[in-house]
Amino acid sequence: MTPDFQPWPEVMGTLSKEHTEVRALLSRVGEAAGRGDATEAAWQITAGRDLLSGGLDEHIRVEDDELFPAIAGALGEGITGAFAEEHVRIRRLRDEVVAGATASALPLAACLELCDLLESHTVREDEMLFPAARQALEG
Ligand SMILES: [Fe+2]
Repeated sequence: MTPDFQPWPEVMGTLSKEHTEVRALLSRVGEAAGRGDATEAAWQITAGRDLLSGGLDEHIRVEDDELFPAIAGALGEGITGAFAEEHVRIRRLRDEVVAGATASALPLAACLELCDLLESHTVREDEMLFPAARQALEG
């Protein structure tokens, strides 16, 4: 299936559902990290490791390699490029935080940064990028 023939509304619906799941996890992590409870934050990260590792990688792959190329022409490469750059930052922070949690040495500042960035990034995708993409792909 080439990107042009994807059922984009369903794809974006699935991506938004995954955003909700990762935000729920990161809100538990951020709540613990915010009060300095590295043990609880690390436990939450470890419990959600599948979502944060393979799940997040596949989610980002669909956005970067399938959705963004299909909408970049209509919305502008600057816009999709900015989201793709944030994916690089998100994965870098995710790697640092998951490795720290696994080694019982959670980097709290990086953990809080990841929580804030993922919250703001996914909300901007859901509320700005995807609605604009739906409009562009329909038109
Ligand atoms: Fe994204």
